[in-house]
Amino acid sequence: MNNDVGIDHIAAYIPDHFLSLDSLAEARKIDVKKYHDGIGVKEMSIPTYSEDIVSMGANAGLRLLRESGVDPQDIGLLIVGSESSEDRAKPDATLIHSLLGIGESCRVFNIVHACAGANYGLVSAIDWLLADSTRKYAMVIASDIAIYGIGSAGEPTQGAGAVALLVSRSPRLLRIKEAANFSNNVYDFWRPLKEPFPIVKGVYSVQCYLKAALSCFKKITVNGGYDFVYHTPYPKLVEKVHFEVCSLLGMELDEKINHYKDRVQPANDFSSRIGNTYTASLWFSLLGCLESRLSGMHSNEKEANADRGLYLFSYGSGSGAILMEASPSKDWGTMADYFNYSEEAARRIPLSVEDYEKILSGAGAEIAEFNSGKFCYSGSENHQRKYEYIG
Ligand code: HMG
Repeated sequence: MNNDVGIDHIAAYIPDHFLSLDSLAEARKIDVKKYHDGIGVKEMSIPTYSEDIVSMGANAGLRLLRESGVDPQDIGLLIVGSESSEDRAKPDATLIHSLLGIGESCRVFNIVHACAGANYGLVSAIDWLLADSTRKYAMVIASDIAIYGIGSAGEPTQGAGAVALLVSRSPRLLRIKEAANFSNNVYDFWRPLKEPFPIVKGVYSVQCYLKAALSCFKKITVNGGYDFVYHTPYPKLVEKVHFEVCSLLGMELDEKINHYKDRVQPANDFSSRIGNTYTASLWFSLLGCLESRLSGMHSNEKEANADRGLYLFSYGSGSGAILMEASPSKDWGTMADYFNYSEEAARRIPLSVEDYEKILSGAGAEIAEFNSGKFCYSGSENHQRKYEYIG
């Protein structure tokens, strides 16, 4: 890869509570096989009152700074990608900037482009670094809460979480190259300001996603030896799209099934427990992929595959897509050793459907007060949102 720039480290924040899709299926009187096999989801992360996109983003950012050992004063650019903002003017990035103690000379802003916001942030951060050799680090945060509403078709595809990316020269984790772009003006999923939930044309959104993915992969010479990591609104869609990408490589059905199992499924398995996290979804899938690769390396089974490249496909409704190519740095396992997200997801607390419904209808303050993050949302005064460091 030409440019020695990319992702130095990744850290995530997963909300402390989840809803099992088994419980949801029972409550909605839907065959659970539809959720497990038809959509591919098992659990979804649900944020409680003290977790919003700012607290989740700041928690991921703090973890990123601590694990990477980078001084917040060396962050010269902070971009927050989100579509769940509480304010039309004041960027969430300003709140996260202050919570993380980043210096006043930092360039700080939000990007909105549905699920692709943070990925446009990442390629912008790479351009920013390449434009001036004195610049050291950029931080890109993806933080979102995906909610479609009680009883809606999208309900089983909800989720929440945040991921922070540290972008640098000579990155210790992954070198990143922008490989292809796609843009198309469509109304497949959109969120008018006065509507509480997104408006979605489900089947059409799936067609738009597929068109964007194929358009990007057709623009490059696809290397079938890579891992493929996709924006994951729900795992079954990724499986279907990957089969179409395999068709571009001339694979027969058996080969497609094996390729999917080997190169995509570990990422999908992890996402099936978190749910859609919009801007953060691609990055949770990447964490699933890298964690699984690392466990293989530790057991010496897959050592030969430790350094293989990856495709990162990001889709945002409306629509835009970026296909990126990533190559692991020599000692990427040193940074990836911090990843413990499968275990962290397993430690979450299950919610009853009744409590989940209360949280969605805004009455969640008294429910599930436990919060393992360092920052939490503590209420609003004069329309100003307040946050506390709870250590
Ligand atoms: P639905 O209408 O409830 O589901 O909505 P369905 O009836 O189409 O069933 C889903 C699948 O389950 C089908 O399989 C059924 O056959 C199967 P398919 O035909 O697709 O192969 N099924 C069963 N399988 C086993 N046992 C059973 C059973 N019953 C049915 N008993 C939909 C599904 C995905 C449309 C809905 O959940 C939705 O609207 N989700 C939100 C939109 C979405 O995720 N779109 C994805 C592309 S757009 C995107 O990625 C952008 C986004 O992330 C937002 C952004 O960019 O900001 C969403």
